[in-house]
Amino acid sequence: MAGSYCIITYGCQMNEHDSEIMQGLLKARGYSKVDSEFEADVVVFNTCCVREGAESRAMSRCESLVSAKEKNPNMVIAMSGCVAQDQGKRLLDKLPHLDIVIGTRDYVHLPQLLDRVQVSGERVVAVDDIDKPFSVNSIPLRESKLKGFVNIMYGCNNGCTYCIVPKTRGEEWSRPIAEVVEEVRAMAAQGYREVMLLGQNVNSYMTDKREDFADLLGALNEIDDLWRIRYTTSNPKSCRDRHIGAVAGYEKVMENLHLPVQSGNDRVLRMMKRAYNSTRYRHLVSLYREQNPVHGLTTDIIVGFPTETRAEFEDTLRLVQEIRYDNAYMFMYSPRAGTVSAETMRDDVPLEEKKARLKELIDLQESIAWEKTREEIGRVHEVMVEGISKKDANQLQGHSRTFKRVVFPGNERLIGQRVKVKITGGTSHTLAGDIVTTEPAEALAAAGR
Ligand code: SAH
Ligand code: SF4
Ligand code: F3S
Repeated sequence: MAGSYCIITYGCQMNEHDSEIMQGLLKARGYSKVDSEFEADVVVFNTCCVREGAESRAMSRCESLVSAKEKNPNMVIAMSGCVAQDQGKRLLDKLPHLDIVIGTRDYVHLPQLLDRVQVSGERVVAVDDIDKPFSVNSIPLRESKLKGFVNIMYGCNNGCTYCIVPKTRGEEWSRPIAEVVEEVRAMAAQGYREVMLLGQNVNSYMTDKREDFADLLGALNEIDDLWRIRYTTSNPKSCRDRHIGAVAGYEKVMENLHLPVQSGNDRVLRMMKRAYNSTRYRHLVSLYREQNPVHGLTTDIIVGFPTETRAEFEDTLRLVQEIRYDNAYMFMYSPRAGTVSAETMRDDVPLEEKKARLKELIDLQESIAWEKTREEIGRVHEVMVEGISKKDANQLQGHSRTFKRVVFPGNERLIGQRVKVKITGGTSHTLAGDIVTTEPAEALAAAGR
């Protein structure tokens, strides 16, 4: 007998998409969604352990369900995602009210595991599929009817010394092109116009038939009714000139690139085992910029890596100042048990110093983002209208090809269409503008088209 479910998701887009797949599986079994975990019959915590903060938030939110479960003994609580994969059955000891621990490639069996628990009352751990290729035979339940995530690969074979992801997501495995194309074609037939291709390192996409990321983009670019292809995450280590050529060469591939740099200092990059240096990184950025004059560029940065000196941190500031990202995700180093850096390096940058470096970096990035918004004024962007702005019901919102969020007044009948918007202002993270029906030549020139 089905009941209600609530999935609480932490972490990256892969985790978000795994939650959409779990929702699809539960819906197919007749479960209905509720917003509060306290009212659900099935609660899934889809967790992240990339930094300590994410992990402890999930653990304490799960702990807060103890008394709700005492009141409703039929409640089934599951933990999936990276904490579940990393800790496996140890979680059952830590969380005595937890029923199911389910790994990052086992979650497709969620309904069967629920059946087992509901019939027998036993507690189950399923984390063994970690290195297996796998395919999902269910339809993800996505919130948007216009754009959606699509997995192109699982796992990660890079050994960045600070990172827990290879341990929690297993070996790299790329889905065959035909399978990805089939999924995207079906989405386009249902009205989806944009896909975000997901992988920890999309540049190392390689199928059993030796087809690479550029081949995949070429195949997806042919799909009728699909307008926009985005992808994340690109990794400078495996990013080849051919990939940059391909992303520039296909009309449907959008002009935005998320290229995590992590640090601007070569010694720190070596300690992180990133396998590129700042010169190679700068080369990739200039190549991309040459081929995509109008674009969005974003990154990830870690401050306070073991032994990072003030002068080395300043190399990161210099790189950020020089490259001028549109947005950056910036973190304090957090040692994760089982990673090379946690096992072999002392976390010796004091917390206060990490915080000060992070603040300095965020302030710099924020001022660059404001400047970049000012530079946008007068440009015309193609925007796919995605819905009504959450902050202002009189405004529509969507994204430019360059992945900037854009808000503008307009009729909601435009949702699902592409319009041209001339930018008049905005904040550090959102552009504001007005729809233009004709395209003044000078505005197009300003946009570099
Ligand atoms: N596969 C992606 C990123 C995955 S994790 C890539 O290689 O770029 C997302 C981001 O979290 C990383 O880019 C990194 O900046 C950050 N991160 C990962 N491990 C971390 C740690 N131990 N401490 C702080 N930040 C970390
Ligand atoms: Fe982690 Fe590096 Fe893999 Fe990214 S490429 S998931 S940072 S090991
Ligand atoms: Fe977190 Fe796992 Fe993603 S550790 S960042 S949820 S791959």
